Amino acid sequence: MSLSREQMLVEMGISPIWVLRDAPATTPIEESRVQEMAASAPVAEVPPPATRQFAEKSEMPPSAAVDIGTLDWPALARQVAGCRACSLCEQRKQAVFGVGDTSPDYLFIGEGPGAEEDARGEPFVGQAGKLLDSMLASLDIARGNRVYIANAVKCRPPGNRTPEPAEMAACWPYLERQIALLKPKIIVLLGKAAVHAVLHDDKSLASLRGKRFEHSGIPVVVTYHPAYLLRNLPDKAKAWEDLLFARRTLCEQLTPALPF
Ligand code: URA
Repeated sequence: MSLSREQMLVEMGISPIWVLRDAPATTPIEESRVQEMAASAPVAEVPPPATRQFAEKSEMPPSAAVDIGTLDWPALARQVAGCRACSLCEQRKQAVFGVGDTSPDYLFIGEGPGAEEDARGEPFVGQAGKLLDSMLASLDIARGNRVYIANAVKCRPPGNRTPEPAEMAACWPYLERQIALLKPKIIVLLGKAAVHAVLHDDKSLASLRGKRFEHSGIPVVVTYHPAYLLRNLPDKAKAWEDLLFARRTLCEQLTPALPF
């Protein structure tokens, strides 16, 4: 189904008519199966980053360290479910691995789970998630259909605070491995924490929007976090421009310019 421009604006909530979807457009069956497996399976110990360096120097028994960069998808999900690499694990109900199409065109990356995500084990299921679903619908996509959704940190920061740089660094090997396995054709970073995690850049979002960055040869673009957009409604128009830019960048990626 392709939407008219007016319908897209309605989906984004930019048009006079405000439309929010009550439920995700598709059920991520495959992903929930992976998470069930992850919850029940044994987990090898993942040391915190400092210990990992120690392990790399062969001063620890090799069995105690896990090379996250070699894990397949189910093993990665198990590692995340049992991760104790930073203190965020202490207050979580569960780690939130991610959801969606595991051969996606788009990978959207947010900040970290909030209370609802922590309870349900799925990213972006609260108010910000409803807006994200509308943003996806404006691109004619949906979670589970050409899109995967993940976060910079997998465990809820207490009180929904912004994750600390050390927490994002501890979680980065998981996100990095997810990117390597998913091989998205474009990555869309939602807000400053995702930008910090993937691009290691702390410049303002305003200065980064509309530019094409890269991670491991994959184009990366930046836009506002949906929770920010809920508080700053006029900036939705800018987010809409960013999504159009993401779609153009994806099209260029799929059909590179002819050599003449
Ligand atoms: N905000 C995020 O960044 N991620 C979620 O999963 C939910 C809210």
